[in-house]
Amino acid sequence: MLWPYPHRIVPTFFESTRTLQAMISSPLMTVMVDAVRKAARGLKRDYGEIENLQVSRKGPGNFVSAADRKAEEVLRDALMKARPGYGLVLEESGIVEGADKSHTWHVDPLDGTTNFLHGIPHFAISVGLEREGQIVAGVIYDPAKDELFVAERGKGAYLNNRRLRVSGRVDMADALVAYGSPYLGRGDHPKLLREVAAVMAVSGGIRRFGSAALDLAYVACGRSDLYWERDLQTWDIAAGIILVREAGGFVSSADGGAEPLAARSVAAGNEHLHGDLVKLLRRANA
Ligand code: 2AM
Ligand code: CA
Repeated sequence: MLWPYPHRIVPTFFESTRTLQAMISSPLMTVMVDAVRKAARGLKRDYGEIENLQVSRKGPGNFVSAADRKAEEVLRDALMKARPGYGLVLEESGIVEGADKSHTWHVDPLDGTTNFLHGIPHFAISVGLEREGQIVAGVIYDPAKDELFVAERGKGAYLNNRRLRVSGRVDMADALVAYGSPYLGRGDHPKLLREVAAVMAVSGGIRRFGSAALDLAYVACGRSDLYWERDLQTWDIAAGIILVREAGGFVSSADGGAEPLAARSVAAGNEHLHGDLVKLLRRANA
């Protein structure tokens, strides 16, 4: 059989021992990466405990929200200290108004909560910076795999030290498509099932990984070709949006609109396949 992955996947394994391009170095990136790494230390410690707590009858639910809140406090304190005027939109504690109305952090201290809770090592911290309505920088950190995804407008997207580029696949029949589904009692489940059926019928494979931030990061680095999800919040997707765009990919709302952040939904992918996904989703709902 012909090797079906013509672009980046093979080179990245061999390239990992060499230094490719340097990661973004800017004062803003330093602030974001330091904050995220600091919060990750606690989250990692707590994740180690979760695996033990998994057996307790009461279950780890309360513990998880404490881990989540602690990580958010660390992020909030670090970001407020470094950029005192900026506003914040935080998953756990809501909105903090800043004196500087043109800058807002969108912070998710633990994206992929259900994975964390079940001891599945696929979750992330996500921090995006909005400047006058545009996302200009994003950091997503996966502590379990020690993968740091960063992007800044005009400066590219990186995973650890490697510059990122979305996949080059052009055929839906080869494409790996990730999606997300709403929690019990939220969102429109029948609609999602129609969309999943439509995508399954024509794509190479579908995945439900459970972290919107990492789903976008995986499109940015070419692991997934496409991703869509509805019923999200700005902190789930802010950082991921700039990662995909700086890696040369397209991000719209799930309906194809230009403002995913405002629409609270995303469709992301490379330039060849993004439009096909949006059309498939539209047709599934027609
Ligand atoms: P969370 O882990 O922080 O809750 C799962 O599909 C992804 O979507 C996760 O990133 C999850 O974030 C996010 N998400 C946000 N709102 C959601 C909702 N209403 N239902 C399901 N997932 C949601
Ligand atoms: Ca989230």
